[in-house]
Amino acid sequence: MRSSFRALLGGLVALLPVLAVPLGAPVAQAGEDSDRSIIGGGPVTAERYPWTVAVASQSRFGSARSGQFCGGVLVGPTTVVSAAHCFGQAALGGNWSDVHDLRIIFGRTDLSGTSGRETDVSNVWVNPGYDPVTNSGDVAVVTLGESLPAASTIRMAGADDTQDYRAGTAAEVYGWGDTTGYASYSTVLRAAGLTVLADETCERAYPGNGDGKYNRQDMVCAGDPAGGHDACQGDSGGPLVAGGKLVGLVSWGAGCADPAHPGVYTRMSAVAGLVAAHSS
Ligand code: ARG
Repeated sequence: MRSSFRALLGGLVALLPVLAVPLGAPVAQAGEDSDRSIIGGGPVTAERYPWTVAVASQSRFGSARSGQFCGGVLVGPTTVVSAAHCFGQAALGGNWSDVHDLRIIFGRTDLSGTSGRETDVSNVWVNPGYDPVTNSGDVAVVTLGESLPAASTIRMAGADDTQDYRAGTAAEVYGWGDTTGYASYSTVLRAAGLTVLADETCERAYPGNGDGKYNRQDMVCAGDPAGGHDACQGDSGGPLVAGGKLVGLVSWGAGCADPAHPGVYTRMSAVAGLVAAHSS
């Protein structure tokens, strides 16, 4: 994972978006209107979207927001999918297995409270094919130490679900991440409506010039062509949903909510087989 810097409009300096940890310098973003959430969108409840879970460690990230540092998605009673980059050295400052209080938080809309449940983690499979330079293969499978309700899971898109990936499809992204692009992490779960964008849009935005390289094989491009709605730091690993299925995981992007730089998501249909092979 890189941590080099790049100058953006207005002389702002943006932390490269591949940074997983929601700490440090602010990221630049387009637009300046209020009511940003994830970025754009608004608050929702974890009861309504119970498959959206938080990945947390209070020892690493503090107790104020229950230690949340990434998102995850419940796809089986003991299986959460998230991003590979959430579990690497750059995010955790060490190996995930050295983080003694790694938890999955389920059913907690407001991270400043104690509602819902916290489960411990018995294993994390971090895709060994994850490439921190291009950001390809950004998926991890977290096995829980106890079962969560099967009724709270969401189905992953598979190879047959090509219609959910068509450009123009409405999608929604969920998370507790940065709401402004300036490191204001949300305490409550938020969602924003996005549009699945053509692969060409992200291929043009991310040709491999230092931001990561868009690969249509295992990534999906989504955003707001007008800017203003996007995932941002701290949302990584969380769900992008279309047609009632999990179609993507928040992975990377340059800045947040910049119409010229859409969000890039791990393409669920491309990694569903890997996830199944590493699920309990
Ligand atoms: N890498 C970020 C994280 O770890 C997610 C960035 C997503 N950025 C975007 N503009 N959609 O939380």
